Amino acid sequence: MTLLFTPYSFGTLTVPNRLVRSATAERMADADGRILPTLYLFYRTLAEGGIGLIITGHMYVHPGGKAHPEMTGIHSDEMLPGLRQFAETIHQVGGLAAAQINHGGIKNDAESVSESVGPSDLEVGDLASRPARAFTEAEIAMLIDAFAQAARRAKQAGFDAVQVHAAHGYLISQFLSPAVNRRTDEWGGSFYNRLRFLREVVRAVRAEVGAEYPVFIKLGMMDGVEGGLTLEDGARIVAALQEIGLDAVELSGGIGGPKLTNSKKGVRKAAEEAYFLEFARRAKAVTGLPVMLVGGFRTRPVMEQVLADGDADFISMCRPLINDPDFPNKLKRGETDKSGCISANNCWPTGFGEGIGCKCPVKTEV
Ligand SMILES: Cc1cc2nc3c(=O)[nH]c(=O)nc-3n(C[C@H](O)[C@H](O)[C@H](O)COP(=O)(O)O)c2cc1C
Repeated sequence: MTLLFTPYSFGTLTVPNRLVRSATAERMADADGRILPTLYLFYRTLAEGGIGLIITGHMYVHPGGKAHPEMTGIHSDEMLPGLRQFAETIHQVGGLAAAQINHGGIKNDAESVSESVGPSDLEVGDLASRPARAFTEAEIAMLIDAFAQAARRAKQAGFDAVQVHAAHGYLISQFLSPAVNRRTDEWGGSFYNRLRFLREVVRAVRAEVGAEYPVFIKLGMMDGVEGGLTLEDGARIVAALQEIGLDAVELSGGIGGPKLTNSKKGVRKAAEEAYFLEFARRAKAVTGLPVMLVGGFRTRPVMEQVLADGDADFISMCRPLINDPDFPNKLKRGETDKSGCISANNCWPTGFGEGIGCKCPVKTEV
């Protein structure tokens, strides 16, 4: 039996199938974070392609958290008209949209963020491309509020859910990681203290959006760097998520070191797909929350197997939908069982305003 095209609910949201578009930075905003018209067209095409739930590219909650050029801002009420149009574009063609909210911390855009700030003082090389200083307690309170106001804006703009980005070495994942968070106050040190920033962010988000609005997380379960989060640590975090107030979890890994990357290159064979499957199994053992799994899904049999085995409830994809936004429809109509994505990571723009797109020469045959 096919599970891929059966509905599934989390929080108050019912997703019509099990396919999720994992957050994908579009690079379609101006220098102030305002959405460029190309983004609406991009998302209209994506939503028409039959994906169950679209998670937007990460949007910065505060100007100091801008992670790269052309990143969309959700940091000010002035962004609301563009954000409304964003959500409406997806809704107009029957899609569902979750806004991913983020702060880069030490992973910031040096062109627009004058000072690099994160959980701790860091030298270059410590996963930091330039020296960083530690946030003060007052700044931490400001950041928590910035996440809460961003979530409030997402809801006000009409997004169906919010995803808090706690993966890939950005600010929340920096606080969680013992490799980056070397604080000795209540925001660092013990497992419980490193979890505090995430807990406080979700508490503040809930205070703004209410108990019913779907709020979920993208969690990096393992850092893959020396002294970083292990899979055991990741499972402990997953076990706490429901109590923290989240409705679902999407699993990923890696904080920027060479050993574990979130967008693994060269996924070609079935055995190379679903490269974070072990994470999902560990997560399922400790949580009743719906689990979305991302990382290397390319063929229908692998997707169906993961769902049938109960290892995940949703299949999340990024690069296959850059390669072909109509991939979900093609799967549904039985036109193909396999994405044309060859995981070469040629998705990034080469010039300002171009936005992401598949630049691989081979699109259909692998
Ligand atoms: C061009 C590009 C942009 C991405 N932007 C984001 C992002 O904004 N937020 C995020 O959580 N992950 C982001 N990712 C990571 C993907 O969501 C996903 O976790 C990863 O690519 C693995 O999935 P895949 O094998 O289906 O591509 C991005 C990846 C790529 C290739």
